[in-house]
Amino acid sequence: MTKVLFVCLGNICRSPMAEGLMKKYNEEQRLGLVIDSAATSRWEVGNPPYAGTQEILKRENIDFSGMYARQIQPKDFEEFDWIIGMDHQNVKDLMRLAPSGTEEKIHLYMEVVPGKEEQEVPDPWYTDNFEETYQMLSEGLSLWGEKFGSYS
Ligand code: 4NP
Repeated sequence: MTKVLFVCLGNICRSPMAEGLMKKYNEEQRLGLVIDSAATSRWEVGNPPYAGTQEILKRENIDFSGMYARQIQPKDFEEFDWIIGMDHQNVKDLMRLAPSGTEEKIHLYMEVVPGKEEQEVPDPWYTDNFEETYQMLSEGLSLWGEKFGSYS
């Protein structure tokens, strides 16, 4: 079973939104994925998704009742097949934290979107624009879905 972990700085804005949207896509497409999210920092550990992310998830009929921020652990790098950061700093931090031999699991979210391979998913903690973040995440869902499906 393919396991996917979305990662951002706080695990309250971008990565829980990505987790929720991919869970919905996973159910609709019956991809059979295990999906989770985590933070690179300890700052928001134990907190639910931020209000703006909750609003988007509610609007999309996605249940976030069990979602609480957690920090990525060394065992996550062994357990998950795909570890997907939202921005270049996330990827850099993940590369630093990764036990050796697990680095190839680390990716940038937008790298699957043609023409936007180097772009970052904007952090609404700073932009206050949750809709923009939702739109960018939506662009990658089916493209990641294809990748996960072809993983052996
Ligand atoms: P996230 O956004 O990484 O998308 O969850 C942030 C959440 C909290 C903080 C920064 C970014 N913070 O500084 O606490």
